[in-house]
Amino acid sequence: MSKPKVFVTREIPEVGLKLVVDNTDAEVWPDLLPPPYEVIKEKIASCDGLLALLTDKIDAPLLDAAPNLKVVSNFAVGFNNIDVAAATARRIRVGNTPGVLTEATSDFAFTLLMGGARRLVEACNYAKAGHWQTWEPQGFLGQDIWGATMGIVGMGRIGYAMAHRAHRGFDMRILYYDVNPSEHAERDFGATRVDMDTLLAEADFVSIHTDLNASTTGLINRDTLAKMKRNAILINSARGPIVDTDALYEALRDGVIAGAAMDVTEPEPLPVEHPLYSLPNCTIAPHIASATYTSRNKMARMAAENLLAGLRGEDLPNQVNPEVG
Ligand code: DGY
Repeated sequence: MSKPKVFVTREIPEVGLKLVVDNTDAEVWPDLLPPPYEVIKEKIASCDGLLALLTDKIDAPLLDAAPNLKVVSNFAVGFNNIDVAAATARRIRVGNTPGVLTEATSDFAFTLLMGGARRLVEACNYAKAGHWQTWEPQGFLGQDIWGATMGIVGMGRIGYAMAHRAHRGFDMRILYYDVNPSEHAERDFGATRVDMDTLLAEADFVSIHTDLNASTTGLINRDTLAKMKRNAILINSARGPIVDTDALYEALRDGVIAGAAMDVTEPEPLPVEHPLYSLPNCTIAPHIASATYTSRNKMARMAAENLLAGLRGEDLPNQVNPEVG
């Protein structure tokens, strides 16, 4: 019997890739950079399955070009790159990789928080550039972390894990903003659900953990930044478009807030000539929060298992559109 045809848009870790390659007739895009949209469209024309990355835009015209497609498996927990409604309308299952990157992502969000608060990158660059001449009583003063107030935007899995670190590790008071209350966070960390304005006005650290959708796009903008404390640090490890990049640049330049530490940007990658890079109070990492060996291996296995289940016509172990069944 012939194997189902699939297109894999990048080389994912071996533990997942091998599962796919052994069980399907797979074509794997070998380059570091993503295949262009038109190339994906052409490649999936005769495919039964697609294993995609968060950098691949999967929309209705693309799905229309693949009449046999049964499943799109995303190698990410976020799936804002996929038009899920369009997939559902075409009875195509969509999978993602929740849970396995929660701890790695919140570890990194906390790394950004600490680095931003204590000006780590700025100070290391100063030393490296040969400016370190003596111990300076007022050099590189930063923000206190212990006992500070943490504002979590989006108390899902990763938001909860961030609150855990902040409260249990650093005795922080936890405020959160979410459309749904989190009984767990309230019980475990004494977290208080507040409106966005209260969170912005009281938090020393504002950490974004919401998904990207119509209501969160541009959530952090000129107005919301102006409501933050002047000593506040903004942390974004969720999705770039949740923060208005130009507004952030101006707020950091003008001292409206003390700093920002971002794992995600809009656009992504942020062009090297972008003025945000020139600001000493802004740390930018290249979207690496889930990049641990363990997490990426688990993501690869999960993405492969989602893909294979969809090819068999079964519900996916992690399916974002369960109504396709
Ligand atoms: C995701 O999975 O959505 C992250 O952004 C990358 O791991």
